[in-house]
Amino acid sequence: MGVVTSGGDAPGMNAAIRGVVRIAYSKNFEVVGFERGWEGLLTNSFRRLTPRSVGGILHLGGTILHTSRCLEFKKEEAITKAAQTLALNNVDGLIVIGGNGSFQGALELSKKTGTPIVGVPASIDNDVYGTDETIGFDTAVNTAVTEIDKIRDTAVSLERIFVVEVMGRTRGFLALTVGVTAGAEMILIPEVKYENEEIFKTIREAKERGKKSAIIVAAEGIGDTRQLANEIEKATDAEVRLSVLGYTQRGGNPSARSRLLASLFADKAVELISEHQKSRAVVLQNGKITSMGLEESCVTEKPTDLSLLALAKILTT
Ligand code: F6P
Repeated sequence: MGVVTSGGDAPGMNAAIRGVVRIAYSKNFEVVGFERGWEGLLTNSFRRLTPRSVGGILHLGGTILHTSRCLEFKKEEAITKAAQTLALNNVDGLIVIGGNGSFQGALELSKKTGTPIVGVPASIDNDVYGTDETIGFDTAVNTAVTEIDKIRDTAVSLERIFVVEVMGRTRGFLALTVGVTAGAEMILIPEVKYENEEIFKTIREAKERGKKSAIIVAAEGIGDTRQLANEIEKATDAEVRLSVLGYTQRGGNPSARSRLLASLFADKAVELISEHQKSRAVVLQNGKITSMGLEESCVTEKPTDLSLLALAKILTT
């Protein structure tokens, strides 16, 4: 069996690798780990993974196999090469741990090979269709909320407004959950278009209600957050600061929840490969681990739960 981590790293990827290796061995598979994401399948670069070699990694962020954003993998020749690598090494099944882009690559590869391919969703963005949660999301939420709690101390003390930029290039799942759980006065996500005037109005109204400071959580995908902070400062009387949380959200020890999800997903992924199921994605739906077609997961856009935005508004009055 082969395993690969691809795209942006997410805390819990190592827990998933450990799970795959140990569960696969319990079913008499040998496991190889392809290195540096899809690149490993293009260069036939892999290492043997044994239950012992994945000891001591459960609690580590990042991925011991390394990862990459492999643009070459968008080309047909690259997919063909990867299919040849699988055949050359007699790989009976490949488990791809990653987000949307990795699933897309996995789908293309599954069209070129008879080898079963199973996607395991891992991304701090939580933007994979079909699963309620991805590996790493819970950890990133906790990392961001821990930081915002600290920012709130200085915001309150100096009666300032903070725009806090969290990750999410195209989607706002992280910003939404972080915003609600950090008690943000406002949450800005790419899925909801807003006028600056609405933001200014919300701040003025909050001030009239006696609020002297505020936290605005903004997903990076909304645009230039520095400019936004400057404009808020100009339009209101408030002192405004920007804090970009950045890559701290992608690293660190995975939370217990991310480790549990990784272990449960690994179990399901190995099961699907041993059943020779072709092109599947492991997913969490309503508390249950199950699977769905990889293609459906790839082509469908995950809906945003806008009721969270409405709830956030009530909770911060
Ligand atoms: O892992 C997902 C993500 O964190 C996005 O939210 C972000 O825009 C992107 O990765 C940036 O990652 P990189 O700089 O590694 O391409």
